[in-house]
Amino acid sequence: MKMFDDDVILVLGGGSGLGLGIARHFVDEGARVAVFEISEDKLNALKAEFGDAVLLFRGDVTNPQDLMDCRQAIVDRWGRLDALVGSQGIFDGQVPLKDVGLDRVPSLFDEVFRVNVLGYILACKVFVELLEASNGSIVLTASVAAYAADGGGLMYTATKGAVISAVRQLAFEFAPRVRVNGVAPGAIAESQLQGPKALGLEGFKQSDIPQDAMLTTFRNLTLMRELPTPRDYAPVYAFLASHHNAVVTGQTVLLEQGALNRASLSAPGATGGIGA
Ligand SMILES: NC(=O)c1ccc[n+]([C@@H]2O[C@H](COP(=O)([O-])OP(=O)(O)OC[C@H]3O[C@@H](n4cnc5c(N)ncnc54)[C@H](O)[C@@H]3O)[C@@H](O)[C@H]2O)c1
Repeated sequence: MKMFDDDVILVLGGGSGLGLGIARHFVDEGARVAVFEISEDKLNALKAEFGDAVLLFRGDVTNPQDLMDCRQAIVDRWGRLDALVGSQGIFDGQVPLKDVGLDRVPSLFDEVFRVNVLGYILACKVFVELLEASNGSIVLTASVAAYAADGGGLMYTATKGAVISAVRQLAFEFAPRVRVNGVAPGAIAESQLQGPKALGLEGFKQSDIPQDAMLTTFRNLTLMRELPTPRDYAPVYAFLASHHNAVVTGQTVLLEQGALNRASLSAPGATGGIGA
């Protein structure tokens, strides 16, 4: 049995990384998928991969009119929407606040919060009526960075904390017709997560980090051996986005590969427990 029965699902930021893995998995699971993405190049690659099977929409998630136009395109093609998955995002470069020039703090805040938080809020606002009509779902992407320090800089981690709070509030406001949940991934292989223009880091992508260095870091920080791919995360999104989920709302599922459950008393350099 497939997870979706011709459900119509919109993936924001589906041009690469996590969102692309989700889009691919959802197509395989029987969904009719639309991808909203800012990068023309990524959309061209998706066109080559999916042809007309996936509705490809170029837009900026911080622009309400782009989201409205996307909604119209979905209504014109399918007349309905069953789920909205938020997977767009940008990074903050992990620069400590003390090292960010005071003049850059407001623009860094605006840039990262606009994409990572405002974009989700605008999309929820624009698509909620369609989702109410289908008893649909929303799934937004937070991060392990919201749960422990140093998974990003201040702006990135704060945006991800905001996503978790937004999930709770929107689950409350949109009940009972629309379920709203979050997923907080740990590291993602194949991510092209981009740095902020405000710090001149827009040319930096996570995929620029050598894979072996990523893997070594990952193994040191988690209980797992292999970096999860977007496809590894996608089934969790699929369940939450599907009509099979009749019971989960307001939750953010933390998928951190044991990063927060590592050795404590037996860690190298620790003193060990009393009587241990
Ligand atoms: N990379 C990681 O290790 C990691 C870990 C935890 C959470 N996340 C989160 O996962 C989500 C997906 O990130 P990813 O790692 O797959 O990175 P990614 O850059 O590969 O994917 C994000 C996509 O969003 C698009 N995008 C950016 N700004 C946009 C805008 N204004 N409008 C429309 N689209 C826009 C990008 O072009 C890109 O295709 C993000 O929310 C990120 O914060 C990533």
